[in-house]
Amino acid sequence: MNTPPGNVFVHAGDMQRTSLLFADAANPHRSPVSIPSRAYRSPPGPSSPPGKDPVEARPPCPPMQLVRPSTEHLPSYIAALERGWSADNLRGAAAAAEELLRIREDAGPCLASFDDRDALGLTVTLPDGSTAPRLAGFRRWIWDGEFAGSIGLRWQRGTTELPPHCLGHIGYAVVPCKQRRGYATAALKLMLQEAAKVGLPFVEVTTDPDNIASQRVIEAAGGGLQERFFQPPQFGSKPGLRYRIATA
Ligand SMILES: CC(C)(COP(=O)(O)OP(=O)(O)OC[C@H]1O[C@@H](n2cnc3c(N)ncnc32)[C@H](O)[C@@H]1OP(=O)(O)O)[C@@H](O)C(=O)NCCC(=O)NCCS
Repeated sequence: MNTPPGNVFVHAGDMQRTSLLFADAANPHRSPVSIPSRAYRSPPGPSSPPGKDPVEARPPCPPMQLVRPSTEHLPSYIAALERGWSADNLRGAAAAAEELLRIREDAGPCLASFDDRDALGLTVTLPDGSTAPRLAGFRRWIWDGEFAGSIGLRWQRGTTELPPHCLGHIGYAVVPCKQRRGYATAALKLMLQEAAKVGLPFVEVTTDPDNIASQRVIEAAGGGLQERFFQPPQFGSKPGLRYRIATA
């Protein structure tokens, strides 16, 4: 497969025993790292033979990769936004509508803003509607032939510290119809390597205590719970969990 610069490729293997392979575009001599994936599990139902584990074959997964957002991928991303999906899982449909507007006004600057390592971009809107300075960061799209989700990394130069309004170095979301395929876990593992490249020895990832899926993703990527905390007022002062994951 042709992997454009900035994209990282994950091969999602075959049917029941899948493995995810990482190829480092910047270092083609590096051996692929095998990331164990899981078999697809469906709830037990009338079709499950009695006494059998409800693990069943699913159609072969297309290769999954993290791609740099580009015009080539835009129509599929727009379709997800039009369904009300947003990478901003706190502001949801409102954030999706704003993003659609930006793309329709001028897609070029919008795409460019997804790779903003010098923090030159627009301010970021917090869940209470207030705004805050944007940190250096970039976003990659989870891609399996179509748009499957988004993962973003942000940081402050020269420090692992984050300002209080920034809940974690990495945020991710997968479109509902592509969840539970291991995409978020694989994407987070790949993003850890990107975090190491920008000088972060570890990342912090936060989640809600009731977000079991996200906690599983973080733990599968090596995260350990650091603390329970209360999110800042702009986020509603709700309880949160802060994890730390070593990047190397
Ligand atoms: C959290 C989220 C990104 C997980 O994406 P995903 O691609 O489905 O995650 P994975 O397939 O890698 O699954 C990771 C683990 O979570 C589990 N999981 C996934 N969805 C789950 C759910 N709804 N309930 C319970 N467990 C779930 C999987 O079974 C898997 O566990 P396992 O490793 O023990 O088998 C996705 O649910 C999502 O986009 N949620 C909304 C946005 C969000 O909450 N983002 C995180 C903000 S901190």
